[in-house]
Amino acid sequence: MSKDDIILPKDFPELKNDTFLRAARGEEPEHVPVWCMRQAGRYLPEFREVRAGKDFFDTCRSPEACCELTLQPLRRFPFDASIIFSDILVIPQAMGLDVQMLPGKGPTFTDPLKDPEDLQRLQPNVDVHKELGYVFKAITLTRHKIEGKVPLIGFTGAPWTLMSYMIEGGGSSTHSKAKRWLYRHPEPSHLLLRMLTDVIVEYLLGQVAAGAQALQVFESHAGILGPVEFKEFSLPYLRDIARRVKDRLKEKGQDVPMIVFAKDAHYALEELSESHYEVVGLDWTIDPRAARERTGGKVSLQGNMDPCALYAPKERISEIVKKMLEGFGTRGYIANLGHGLYPDMDPENVAAFVEAVHRHSKSATKQA
Ligand code: CP3
Repeated sequence: MSKDDIILPKDFPELKNDTFLRAARGEEPEHVPVWCMRQAGRYLPEFREVRAGKDFFDTCRSPEACCELTLQPLRRFPFDASIIFSDILVIPQAMGLDVQMLPGKGPTFTDPLKDPEDLQRLQPNVDVHKELGYVFKAITLTRHKIEGKVPLIGFTGAPWTLMSYMIEGGGSSTHSKAKRWLYRHPEPSHLLLRMLTDVIVEYLLGQVAAGAQALQVFESHAGILGPVEFKEFSLPYLRDIARRVKDRLKEKGQDVPMIVFAKDAHYALEELSESHYEVVGLDWTIDPRAARERTGGKVSLQGNMDPCALYAPKERISEIVKKMLEGFGTRGYIANLGHGLYPDMDPENVAAFVEAVHRHSKSATKQA
């Protein structure tokens, strides 16, 4: 595939369930579509079996393994969308940094960025087709194997979240090393954020060319920024990504819905609803009705049940889902959790969540 080739492969099986895509575009399908962040994950025994004894990023580099892991949750639950199995940290890897996934410790960079001079260690012109072609292959393979059951979502980490990993070298509670850059080295910070944005734009376009039918941008570390820093170091890049991806797709007569999930960025909900994304993903700290009011019908909303509500008995899950649906309404709404599933969650309760979304929303749309 050449760099400029962003023409969708044409021979994919026809899409049978488009409820997710319609809700993303602000419509009211016959039931509210539902999927879960981290729906391919360690809470599934079959996932643990495929992953057993294998390196995490080796798994990410195997299109067959990614395809299988993406399809696993769809065999169990009637989810209305799937998300390609991969990771946000493949971008720092493509830019030349070594990242390992250490069991019990999580992502770990061998040699994180320390000072602005370290930016010279990064690859200047990343060829995403060369470095990340394995993700594109996984997407194309999955589009065929999924047989049009539900749409396939591609994703990326947002610039600030990736920057924070590249400087912290792994998980952190304060993100103080990365935030130190923002306050002490604002210009090099913007340079790094621009470099990341350029790679992300090409990466997302490559995913659409490979067959992704929607795109989600994860700004998982938005909450560690305050409103002022968010407006300077996150929002402009989120907007730039959406605008550039959409402009480039438009040139080819294409369009895919884009979702922005800026975790804990409730302070920026108004700005996010005007940042060129069709859908704003919400964590569980935002009240559904308040989110609707503050976004004023400009976008569809996705979320936002507290993942820990899945520890509740099934009847309680059903009540929580009913309230959530009443708050969001059934138009322009995609049900999800407010963050990813945890490894100790019971698949049966995930089934109860999906079933409750479908049942309650079907009766709500019939009444309307
Ligand atoms: O099902 C899906 O949602 C698709 C796959 C997916 C993974 N990671 C697979 C994965 C997606 C969308 C991600 C995104 C991702 N990765 C984010 C953004 C979303 C969020 O959680 O805020 C982040 C911050 C990462 C970085 C990352 N990767 C972390 C913090 C971890 C957990 C480490 C740990 O030990 O708990 C990972 C590993 C990871 N990525 C797992 C999965 C299923 C679990 C580890 C494994 O399979 O061995």
